[in-house]
Amino acid sequence: MLRFIKNLIALVSAKPVKAGKAAQQNETIDLILNRRSCRSFNSEEISREDQQVILEAGRFAPSTVNLQTWSFITFTKTQWHDVFSRPIPFRASFAVVICADTYRLKDVLPGFNGTPFVNLSFAIFNAGLAAMNMTIAAEALGINSVMLSETGKTGLLDFTYVKEKLNLPDGVLPVTTLVLGKSGSKLPVIPPRHPLSCLVMEKSYNKSAATDLKDWFHQMFIGFKLTHPLSNLNKQIEMYKKKMISVESDLKKYFF
Ligand SMILES: Cc1cc2nc3c(=O)[nH]c(=O)nc-3n(C[C@H](O)[C@H](O)[C@H](O)COP(=O)(O)O)c2cc1C
Repeated sequence: MLRFIKNLIALVSAKPVKAGKAAQQNETIDLILNRRSCRSFNSEEISREDQQVILEAGRFAPSTVNLQTWSFITFTKTQWHDVFSRPIPFRASFAVVICADTYRLKDVLPGFNGTPFVNLSFAIFNAGLAAMNMTIAAEALGINSVMLSETGKTGLLDFTYVKEKLNLPDGVLPVTTLVLGKSGSKLPVIPPRHPLSCLVMEKSYNKSAATDLKDWFHQMFIGFKLTHPLSNLNKQIEMYKKKMISVESDLKKYFF
């Protein structure tokens, strides 16, 4: 009981630490630390100009050897409905399927064709950076977003279906589906972060710090119960596990 109360308090009172005066008054730091994934959007559209700014932020992300191993497939509400016969998840206004793209360079740089695992690792990392740049640019424009992998048959966890629907050639992986719009309600509380003491290791790897996650998982559990009183985190994890197992074999088939 004591542990429950301790973790409940930790969950609801958590906030990012901003060390030093400079950080406390810095808009960019605020933007990064206050960003929250949004899962409820109102019907407001995102202007064409704002869409372009967001995509340009993706284009200007850093990438290994400047290879830019990504593709961005964009959808308005109507276009998404045309392809998937349903609304954009959470009724967002605009969506970008951000792909790790190892297809683009296969003819230009055939010297890299013998290292598919390394190529894909780089491409996934680079696509993640592009996704994050887009997210931050959107926040700066007052636009909320969430990156998705489980999206009711429209994300990475339904890889083969998405590959077919979007005509993805072999070597292109839909890493994340970024959906964007204006928040339709108050953003949720901060999902519990691992303390820096678990993550930051000086000079060498610290196994006991890395696995000291019991309080974090307990807070995840409490947080999920508060936001989904009729479900629980274990059920959600079980659903994810099933989908992950099924996509695992598809990925091996197409990438290795
Ligand atoms: C690659 C990626 C995939 C994600 N997939 C989902 C998803 O399928 N469904 C969902 O609700 N949130 C998804 N999220 C959002 C995370 O749940 C969220 O980032 C995390 O709980 C931390 O919350 P915050 O973004 O509000 O800080 C995903 C995030 C990332 C980076």
